[in-house]
Amino acid sequence: MNMQMLKDTARLLFADDKGLLAMDESNGTCNKRFAALGIAQTVEARRAYRELIVTTPGLGESIGGAILYDETIRQKKSDGTPFVKVIIEAGITPGIKVDIGARELAGHPGEKVTEGLDGLRDRLEEYFQMGARFAKWRAVIAIGDGLPSWGCVEANAHALARYAALCQEAGLVPVVEPEVIMDGDHTLEQCGEITDEVLRTVFGELYAQRVVIEGMILKPNMVLPGLACTIEPSLEEVADATVNCFLRAVPAAVPAIAFLSGGQPAELASARLNAMNVRFKSRMPWALAFSFARAIQQPALEIWKGRETNVVAAQQVLVDRARCNQAARRGEYSQQMEAK
Ligand code: 13P
Repeated sequence: MNMQMLKDTARLLFADDKGLLAMDESNGTCNKRFAALGIAQTVEARRAYRELIVTTPGLGESIGGAILYDETIRQKKSDGTPFVKVIIEAGITPGIKVDIGARELAGHPGEKVTEGLDGLRDRLEEYFQMGARFAKWRAVIAIGDGLPSWGCVEANAHALARYAALCQEAGLVPVVEPEVIMDGDHTLEQCGEITDEVLRTVFGELYAQRVVIEGMILKPNMVLPGLACTIEPSLEEVADATVNCFLRAVPAAVPAIAFLSGGQPAELASARLNAMNVRFKSRMPWALAFSFARAIQQPALEIWKGRETNVVAAQQVLVDRARCNQAARRGEYSQQMEAK
């Protein structure tokens, strides 16, 4: 294992207060987002949309890494230039989603386990050859009546650790994503307890599989109430619950924590990340960054709507969101940035 390369990649991804852009929606998820806006659900529409993203002027100033999907990493611009080349020339490191999705966990109604370990060593080698330098695997943990079960947390944590070890062997920085999802009416406190339990279990498994902590990235959820919970917490309450949870459960050797957005409104995700950096910057051993999909892309997608004439306006909104999140890493994000 080339430890120095892994550390260098991890540092590069988050240098200059940059973060990650997750653009790795599976075809099913991408089609669902397109369908909601009346965009054709075709391979060409997905390619055109990803071309819009990777050719956005100035994106590399606030985005250090872009997570691609298997279809996307093989695609090209309309002029024939491979997306990977375009991304690298923009100063962005290409990454790749390598799990193959979450499926029902046998014997555990309402719970899922993420699959994709079979043949993963060979796939990682291929992705490395194609230019990817980091990877992502997402586990899904639901909160509900008696959920999550220990069996679900343990199975997902074990798979994350097996994936992470294989990534490091292949020279790819693993982005380890255990997502406690927002569905349900649970409170912020309940989300905090479950997130804490999940993170402790994940790091236990990472140690057991000999994953080098300095050469990985954690991609967690923020500690938030469920979507159906009627109590809306303040920015400060979210910041305190989230960072205090990580201070207890995440080793200081982790170079960066990069949040998923999980369906939060884009501006709120920026404001919450900002509040965490404002309140805790001097006390956190890791960079506190972002790896958003919807909270960067959704406003741009709503402007694009599949039309060539909207590309420039959509790119502007995309780069604005990326800049807002870079400012949030610095604790310098403000509502005035949105007005602009
Ligand atoms: P969201 O930011 O839309 O939650 O997506 C992040 C992600 O990569 C999910 O795996």
